[in-house]
Amino acid sequence: MFSKALVVICFAAVALGKPVARSLQVHETREQVPAAFSLAGPASPDTMLNLRIALVSSDMAGLEKALYDVSTPGSALYGQHLSKEEVEQFVAPTSETVDAVTSWLKENDVEAAKASPAGDWLSISIPVSKANELFDANFSVFTHSKTGTQSIRTLTYSIPTDLKNKLDFVHPTTVFAQPFSGPQFHTPILTPAVNVTSDAVPSSCGSTITPACLQALYGIPTTSNAISSNVLGVSGFIDQFAQKADLKSFLTRLRTDLPSTTTFTLQTLDGGENPQSASDAGIEANLDIQYTVGVASKVPVNFISVGDNNQDGINGFLDIIQFLLNESTPPTVLTTSYGFNEPDLTSSVANNLCNAYMQLGARGTSILFASGDGGVSGSQSQSCTTFIPTFPSGCPFLTSVGATTGITETAADFSSGGFSAIFSQPSYQSSAVSTYLTALGSTNSGKFTKTGRAFPDVSAQGENVEIADGGEFGTVDGTSCSSPIFASVIALLNDNRAAAGKAPLGFLNPFLYSAAGTAALNDVTTGSNPGCNTNGFPAKAGWDPVTGLGTPNFAKLLSATANL
Ligand SMILES: *[C@@H]1O[C@H](CO)[C@@H](O)[C@H](O)[C@H]1NC(C)=O
Ligand SMILES: *[C@@H]1O[C@H](CO)[C@@H](O)[C@H](O)[C@H]1NC(C)=O
Ligand SMILES: *[C@@H]1O[C@H](CO)[C@@H](O)[C@H](O)[C@H]1NC(C)=O
Repeated sequence: MFSKALVVICFAAVALGKPVARSLQVHETREQVPAAFSLAGPASPDTMLNLRIALVSSDMAGLEKALYDVSTPGSALYGQHLSKEEVEQFVAPTSETVDAVTSWLKENDVEAAKASPAGDWLSISIPVSKANELFDANFSVFTHSKTGTQSIRTLTYSIPTDLKNKLDFVHPTTVFAQPFSGPQFHTPILTPAVNVTSDAVPSSCGSTITPACLQALYGIPTTSNAISSNVLGVSGFIDQFAQKADLKSFLTRLRTDLPSTTTFTLQTLDGGENPQSASDAGIEANLDIQYTVGVASKVPVNFISVGDNNQDGINGFLDIIQFLLNESTPPTVLTTSYGFNEPDLTSSVANNLCNAYMQLGARGTSILFASGDGGVSGSQSQSCTTFIPTFPSGCPFLTSVGATTGITETAADFSSGGFSAIFSQPSYQSSAVSTYLTALGSTNSGKFTKTGRAFPDVSAQGENVEIADGGEFGTVDGTSCSSPIFASVIALLNDNRAAAGKAPLGFLNPFLYSAAGTAALNDVTTGSNPGCNTNGFPAKAGWDPVTGLGTPNFAKLLSATANL
């Protein structure tokens, strides 16, 4: 009797542990590994993998409509940004979706935990052997040749056929995000710091850009109402730390009218930190902090430092956006001077991140990204046959910032711009882009996706920008300069709106591409962004894929946004 019962129990256990196999279908495949990575060999079967599963949201189209309703000038709902809860209602998967995916995981003895505020991400922790079986995958070790960093990825994986419209994708699997690097630092500075005493742009600005140059060039005010709720967020990644001592030196030399003690607030995630010894100085972080604190006078600035404990496979890009979406009052402006080459990400990952930017935009945050420093060859100069768009600039729900140079502004030749191969062209830019494409004619034909989301949207100075770093003064070049500068302009416009009891500008593009927005920008019509053995795209009258619609004219932007 006893042994018989035992047999029955064992049989039941076996039956539970080995469910009827579901039919699997290939979900994502990568044809080739980016050249910067090489296969080291199979991943050890016992290595634990922290994977995330993106679930299909209940109504992303509804959220997109809501975003345009609150961001399009003239709309009855303009400025009526959504609350955290309202956004989450669109983003949360249906309970049917959650149940279907979690019960499949349970059948396989895998416990899933909620991994995002809206519940659209689950996280699981399983050994490589189990992951290979569950997803019919071949997780292997890949080495990034330049840094030696190793990551475990698979070139293909499958999911149950019946979960096709419920499970969006598994991450990180086929994504090969390259650790990105910041701008170069050139020392020493030979020109003295200048004080602007009239509206004229000092001639020294032709060789060195300082906050005073930007104030003169763009008409940026030197003070604000310092409204505490109007926070300008600055993203920090890859152990780039913002130094308080360098900020103080910078303000002491270049903003003598501001207290030299003016500083920023630190926020951290994923074990992020911001150590303060001179050897910890990060050029990118110092640049981003000095050209926000030092340009958006008196606007509160938060430095958001993402640590190395991120396990999102894309340097913390997913974590920082979910972190901000989890805040009840996210920053009103967010600037990020980091990015990827679009082909290194998968369209699933790019779409998911882009939808996350959509969520933050619907909450009322203006999101700005540097467009990249490789002209038409991507985030950095590299060999290529077809143009390489950058990400996140190709996402339609944010504002991409390119670079200019000179007092009579011309395009900086490194300013990345072009057309996404993943995202299609949003209607707010279709007229501006088609005018450009007509003027361009057959130039570069076949090297880019004409129907893709075109970027950048705007631009700002990006060459010979003076910063303090590790106790020294020097200059830097890159769209990394342009994004914090443009973000500071938006923060100052928001300051004026907040003082008048108005909502922040939020997602900017429908305004920027409107007649009023375009007229408030300085059109840059010369220069180009060479790359891939071509001259790149030429800047032209109106929008172009080097300088976008142009650089800020503060007075015009102020009057155009005051009545929105
Ligand atoms: C799995 O990948 C390894 C390299 O990591 C390779 O040697 C092996 O042949 C692959 N197995 C299959 C079944 O494709
Ligand atoms: C969101 O923030 C709350 C605290 O306000 C925290 O308890 C929770 O873990 C966070 N959720 C996510 C998914 O980050
Ligand atoms: C700029 O102004 C500050 C304070 O008014 C002064 O100390 C400094 O010498 C001036 N710099 C130049 C180059 O005139």
